[in-house]
Amino acid sequence: MRISLFSFLYVVYICLAFFEVQALHLNIHDNDSVRSTINSMTGELMNYWNGTDHKFVASYWWLTGASMTVLLNNGILFNNNTYTDLVSESLMYNAGSDYDFEPSDEYFNLGNDDQGIWGAAVMDAAELDLKQVGDSSASWLELGQAAFNRISDRWDTVNCKGGLRWQAFPWLSGYSYKSSISNGLLFQLAARLARFTGDPKYEDWVNRVWDWSTSSGFVNSTDFSVYDGSKISTNCTVIDHSQWSYNLGVYMTGVAYMYNHTRGDNFWKDKLDGFISHATSFFMNNDIAWDPQCETTGSCNIDQTAFKGILMQSFGNAIRLAPYTKTTAAALACSGGYSGKSCGVHWSWDNGTWDGTYGVGQQYSALEAVQMLYVDNYPKLVTLSTSSDNRSNTTFGSANSTSNNYEVTIPRPTEADRGGAGFLTFLSAFLILGVSIWAIIEDEEGKIPSRNQQGETEIVEEKKDDTVMSV
Ligand SMILES: *[C@@H]1O[C@H](CO)[C@@H](O)[C@H](O)[C@H]1NC(C)=O
Ligand SMILES: *[C@@H]1O[C@H](CO)[C@@H](O)[C@H](O)[C@H]1NC(C)=O
Ligand SMILES: *[C@@H]1O[C@H](CO)[C@@H](O)[C@H](O)[C@H]1NC(C)=O
Ligand SMILES: *[C@@H]1O[C@H](CO)[C@@H](O)[C@H](O)[C@H]1NC(C)=O
Ligand SMILES: *[C@@H]1O[C@H](CO)[C@@H](O)[C@H](O)[C@H]1NC(C)=O
Ligand SMILES: *[C@@H]1O[C@H](CO)[C@@H](O)[C@H](O)[C@H]1NC(C)=O
Ligand SMILES: *[C@@H]1O[C@H](CO)[C@@H](O)[C@H](O)[C@H]1NC(C)=O
Ligand SMILES: *[C@@H]1O[C@H](CO)[C@@H](O)[C@H](O)[C@H]1NC(C)=O
Ligand SMILES: *[C@@H]1O[C@H](CO)[C@@H](O)[C@H](O)[C@H]1NC(C)=O
Ligand SMILES: *[C@@H]1O[C@H](CO)[C@@H](O)[C@H](O)[C@H]1NC(C)=O
Repeated sequence: MRISLFSFLYVVYICLAFFEVQALHLNIHDNDSVRSTINSMTGELMNYWNGTDHKFVASYWWLTGASMTVLLNNGILFNNNTYTDLVSESLMYNAGSDYDFEPSDEYFNLGNDDQGIWGAAVMDAAELDLKQVGDSSASWLELGQAAFNRISDRWDTVNCKGGLRWQAFPWLSGYSYKSSISNGLLFQLAARLARFTGDPKYEDWVNRVWDWSTSSGFVNSTDFSVYDGSKISTNCTVIDHSQWSYNLGVYMTGVAYMYNHTRGDNFWKDKLDGFISHATSFFMNNDIAWDPQCETTGSCNIDQTAFKGILMQSFGNAIRLAPYTKTTAAALACSGGYSGKSCGVHWSWDNGTWDGTYGVGQQYSALEAVQMLYVDNYPKLVTLSTSSDNRSNTTFGSANSTSNNYEVTIPRPTEADRGGAGFLTFLSAFLILGVSIWAIIEDEEGKIPSRNQQGETEIVEEKKDDTVMSV
């Protein structure tokens, strides 16, 4: 059955301009139309795919991880296995030779959050019982357990009475910052492992991270704001109160898993309601999802273009795991426009024009939002006892444990930084709000760059910095 709110949404148009202008009209009551629009949007995302190293070009590593989830859901929802093997291979490849999502080519840039996003993606594969192709020497669950073990080993009790640092290693400047994104992802991973395995060890971690997140003030347990984090030099006494949609999103997903795992425990229900309520008021602009922190100033960076996608995904997770949240959650994604009849995708420029940006992050976010229309089609998620692969190892990956506080100083690697390929400007997909939604994909010259044009696009190196609130 369709989500009742969607009956408001009788027509949504999406116009996608590719190399030459090519319009696509999406009528959400017409499944073929929805499917073909989503196929086009997916195709556009996959223009950035590099099959050699199994990641997106012109992007950051974590965005490939986040996109694995949207591709996996895409295949499941539309019963279309086009990218199933690609996702399977990419998850295994990016897990690296130690099967813990610390692959050698990302090792020197590793954030606890990056690893957490990949851990979440591989848990999606476990929960959807994705078939493994090629290397199958570890189960999806074991990869998730390894990511969890590696991240939780870095829990730092010396500073701030607990909590994870943003980055994993001391040669990264974000190592001196504790961030809610890293802690929220550890919380989520623990919750998903608790639900999947039933092992109380993971539930202990859920409680540990939750208690610290609220007692440190990173999560405001009165109004469910999630603040960005704090420099360690202040021992977390001075919190950066910026709010980003994805910080809230990753906690909200964790809470939804705990709600489901505890069969509707009121403790988690209150938290879930709290996050949904805060997201609905804070991350909406005239009923359209937005990230006010950068959108009010038009200064969203490459990471931030994808934040709303993580929030959309968390609403999808809430609906899947706590079906009672359906109407509220759907309202966030799909009550946009002055007529209240359209889904917002970027959503809040009131003149409805394209903002001239494109990239993996925007494309990913738009897909998350449109696929939300199909959230009712998600299958039930398996657990260890119902999975076709019962391999589980709670110590997987822990052979690589290192201490919390590194003394070593390793020279900062050259600017072969984080995405490597540098960065295209921004968004591809765009939606005009009103009765219609438009997505226009163009660059400044009216062209979408193909991979071989990317050499000509602007290269902007991003450096990790304590003051940058992003993944
Ligand atoms: C469209 O898809 C939905 C969800 O799978 C289904 O309930 C509905 O019957 C489909 N409608 C048509 C006309 O096929
Ligand atoms: C399956 O997905 C691929 C890639 O998005 C698309 O090209 C193809 O048309 C889809 N098949 C159907 C039946 O929708
Ligand atoms: C794709 O990945 C390979 C292997 O890392 C790399 O040599 C190549 O330059 C990449 N292609 C693009 C377009 O970035
Ligand atoms: C938490 O939220 C409440 C309600 O909005 C507010 O009064 C309080 O100041 C917030 N706490 C912190 C530490 O920001
Ligand atoms: C934070 O406080 C703890 C306990 O008071 C102390 O041991 C630690 O050195 C402090 N850290 C910093 C960076 O000041
Ligand atoms: C559309 O609105 C945004 C802010 O909402 C503004 O920056 C932009 O210039 C406007 N574009 C046009 C074509 O009016
Ligand atoms: C838990 O999630 C399943 C879907 O995987 C759903 O059918 C079930 O109703 C959820 N449990 C609760 C308590 O909402
Ligand atoms: C796991 O599955 C294998 C083969 O399906 C079976 O032989 C084994 O007993 C199972 N192990 C557990 C712990 O259920
Ligand atoms: C579980 O993982 C640990 C660490 O990688 C390894 O030493 C151990 O042999 C594994 N146990 C099983 C049963 O595979
Ligand atoms: C992880 O542990 C394995 C086995 O002990 C070792 O071969 C590998 O080099 C370690 N990797 C890292 C990144 O330390």
